[in-house]
Amino acid sequence: MTKTRNRGDKDETLEKHVGLLKLGQILSFLVVFIAGMISGLTSSTRINNYFNSQTDLFITKKTGSAISTGYNCTVVKSCKKVDCLSMKTFIHPTNLTHRMSDEEIFWRASLVPYKNGYPFHRRPKVAFLFLTRGLLPMLPLWERFFRGHDKYFAIYVHAPPGYLLNVSSDSPFYRREIPSQSVEWGTMSLFDAERRLLANALLDFSNERFVLLSESCIPIYNFPTVYNYLIRSNHSFADSYDDPTRYGRGRYSRKMFPDIKLPQWRKGSQWFELQRTLAVYIVSDSKYYTIFKKYCKPACYPDEHYIPTYLNMFHGQLNANRTVTWVNWSMGGPHPATYEGVNVTEGFIQSIRNNGTQCSYNSKMTSVCYLFARKFDPSALEPLLNLASTVMEF
Ligand SMILES: *[C@@H]1O[C@H](CO)[C@@H](O)[C@H](O)[C@H]1NC(C)=O
Ligand SMILES: *[C@@H]1O[C@H](CO)[C@@H](O)[C@H](O)[C@H]1NC(C)=O
Ligand SMILES: *[C@@H]1O[C@H](CO)[C@@H](O)[C@H](O)[C@H]1NC(C)=O
Ligand SMILES: *[C@@H]1O[C@H](CO)[C@@H](O)[C@H](O)[C@H]1NC(C)=O
Ligand SMILES: *[C@@H]1O[C@H](CO)[C@@H](O)[C@H](O)[C@H]1NC(C)=O
Ligand SMILES: *[C@@H]1O[C@H](CO)[C@@H](O)[C@H](O)[C@H]1NC(C)=O
Ligand SMILES: *[C@@H]1O[C@H](CO)[C@@H](O)[C@H](O)[C@H]1NC(C)=O
Ligand SMILES: *[C@@H]1O[C@H](CO)[C@@H](O)[C@H](O)[C@H]1NC(C)=O
Repeated sequence: MTKTRNRGDKDETLEKHVGLLKLGQILSFLVVFIAGMISGLTSSTRINNYFNSQTDLFITKKTGSAISTGYNCTVVKSCKKVDCLSMKTFIHPTNLTHRMSDEEIFWRASLVPYKNGYPFHRRPKVAFLFLTRGLLPMLPLWERFFRGHDKYFAIYVHAPPGYLLNVSSDSPFYRREIPSQSVEWGTMSLFDAERRLLANALLDFSNERFVLLSESCIPIYNFPTVYNYLIRSNHSFADSYDDPTRYGRGRYSRKMFPDIKLPQWRKGSQWFELQRTLAVYIVSDSKYYTIFKKYCKPACYPDEHYIPTYLNMFHGQLNANRTVTWVNWSMGGPHPATYEGVNVTEGFIQSIRNNGTQCSYNSKMTSVCYLFARKFDPSALEPLLNLASTVMEF
């Protein structure tokens, strides 16, 4: 440092300059010497740490002894079961179990390739995100819906912590639970669970569309129809509207101003369908997330306002502003109508598949407005299975 400073100092006498230069050389020598000593002292520890951390990445029971013998590149080759840095596990993680915190997984999920194109054949998939309180009573219906389409979808289940779905190993729901946290309905923890589902699903680079579903949701069209509808859509299907009543604008807090202004405030059903770009934006946002966490408390519900408002503020052009999940709110009150076995008829299912109303889709009109429906009681399963092949065509 002394050396550098003196070098530009033209007024110094030569003597002083040389003296300081020498001092500088001695100092730099000392620094190098001390650094060398420290590195010498710690190098053995560092190598051990390096191996320990690498071991976490690619050790399998069989290779344990090979790694303990010391530094040898062939150790990597002997890793057969889990390939440490393989493209395969990087682009399509198969084991959903991990120990990442929310902060860590949101960061990982926010990584977007800068390079155009993919060095692998990318077949876009639809990620089905099930946010459940445990049991999936409609499981047999969903299994039938997914049968034969393995390459085109991925399932993610956020159940209460520790809850394991009791499904056979050939079910598409087998080992699809993500590391979860407890959810208190109506609080930010519900939206956290939604973001957690999005983040886990984003780790698979082939997932292109992301649908949030609950245990009481059913599909009302077959898989190819649902897949094509979503994959070919230029828009996401996230409900977003301005509700001037106390159940909409009434939930806005003036403390959100000026970051969020009342005219920007939106409401919408939590059951979204998002394209990858928007899913990345949502797991990446901290600013608006923090504002909602602070100021959107009952009777404000983050799951009904965060996505509708955030998309409206920044990405409205990518949103169809309507949901593809049908629900019956006609009786009013805080809960929609629940359909039981006795309510499930061919006419009812036909009427939600096509009720005569047209919806806009890629700037054209279509009679297919909804792909899913809720809420269905477990007693509706049998009649739905009976109607599946004739009415829903799967
Ligand atoms: C590395 O492993 C190979 C194959 O097991 C062995 O032939 C070689 O001697 C090892 N080298 C060292 C430096 O341990
Ligand atoms: C998945 O990974 C977790 C920890 O990362 C591990 O404990 C578990 O055994 C793995 N499961 C399978 C089926 O490989
Ligand atoms: C899991 O399902 C099987 C078959 O449906 C059933 O026999 C078994 O009792 C279930 N296990 C639990 C823990 O519920
Ligand atoms: C959805 O709303 C946004 C405003 O938030 C608007 O810009 C966009 O055009 C709307 N989308 C469609 C498909 O009308
Ligand atoms: C919606 O729910 C109400 C009240 O339960 C019911 O009367 C009505 O028939 C339902 N509408 C449809 C389309 O099923
Ligand atoms: C289901 O059927 C029962 C009995 O007919 C009726 O009372 C109820 O309103 C129906 N529910 C809906 C949502 O239509
Ligand atoms: C059809 O569904 C739309 C959207 O839910 C609703 O606005 C409309 O009233 C329904 N039409 C009929 C004829 O039931
Ligand atoms: C969908 O978006 C693409 C790219 O923005 C555009 O070229 C295409 O015309 C759009 N299709 C429809 C049907 O709007």
